[in-house]
Amino acid sequence: MYPNQRNRRLRQSPALRQLVSENQLSRNDLVLPLFVVEGTKVKDPIASMPGCYRLSLDMLQEEVKSAADMGIKAVLLFVKVDDALKDNKGTEAVNPEGLMQRAVRTIKATTPEMVVMTDVALDPYSSYGHDGILEEGKILNDPTIEVLSQMALSHALAGADFVAPSDMMDGRVLCIRTVLEEAGLVDTGIMSYSAKYASSFYGPFREALDSAPGFGDKRNYQMDPGNRLEALTETLRDIQEGADIVMVKPGLAYLDIIRDIRENVEVPIAAYQVSGEYAMLKAAAEKGWLDHDAVMMEQLLAFKRAGANLIATYHAKEAAQLIT
Ligand code: PBG
Repeated sequence: MYPNQRNRRLRQSPALRQLVSENQLSRNDLVLPLFVVEGTKVKDPIASMPGCYRLSLDMLQEEVKSAADMGIKAVLLFVKVDDALKDNKGTEAVNPEGLMQRAVRTIKATTPEMVVMTDVALDPYSSYGHDGILEEGKILNDPTIEVLSQMALSHALAGADFVAPSDMMDGRVLCIRTVLEEAGLVDTGIMSYSAKYASSFYGPFREALDSAPGFGDKRNYQMDPGNRLEALTETLRDIQEGADIVMVKPGLAYLDIIRDIRENVEVPIAAYQVSGEYAMLKAAAEKGWLDHDAVMMEQLLAFKRAGANLIATYHAKEAAQLIT
């Protein structure tokens, strides 16, 4: 009790503050999401995500090299698929010569030490912009996970270190794990988007990939933002099915969920600071209303404090440069 205890004693100097600091951000925590397109020398800016680009394979190669030079250990790949290749079955998603598969091989050829994670979901390949196969207005669960597991297999065969199913179908982690094991790809990991909410923060991402749902929304497969216990159920089931890393998405508005999961599981947890969160900070900073770098670092640190081990963030390179 005061005056025997004075909280400010521990805050008197930078050295003391560092000695008692509980959480620090490290370059080792960062995962850089990247958007890939066809073509050469393409570096197409994404309007609602200043500083982010759709990159052709040659530019992707450069970007990954520079990320590695900055100490970033992992990238998470998304592809923008030509409309002509989209259908309701994910045909292009399993093409061994598809853009994702080539992107993985390109990176592994030049920067083999980079951990390559690939998005596994049908929405960029779907003529309806949904994460699953559609029949009479319904997303079919079991036929979708069959395609997703073949998609994951093709990414793994291309050299992906981790596949990251972001679709929220039931049973997809088990189905993917089974197919990988049968193929002898026992070291390919699964980072599951286990607690992924039906969020309005994904807007800029859907613009980047032209993957917005053509009708309806994703509420019959992504989670209700009001639910908390369900996030734990989803996550525990994914771990039972074989997920090596679990994820909470979006990030900042769901820090309580990260903490809940931290207190209940032992596997590494990834937080995804999504496109809308990134866009909000960029917009406020552009207006001069927030100190961009300071707010960015504070937000990223908050993920660590909540209990995340990995942070997927479009700020990864900016943050890596500021981390001392
Ligand atoms: C698609 C997917 C989405 C994101 C990652 N994978 C969008 C969605 O579910 O509609 C969002 C990422 C972001 O907003 O940064 N399966």
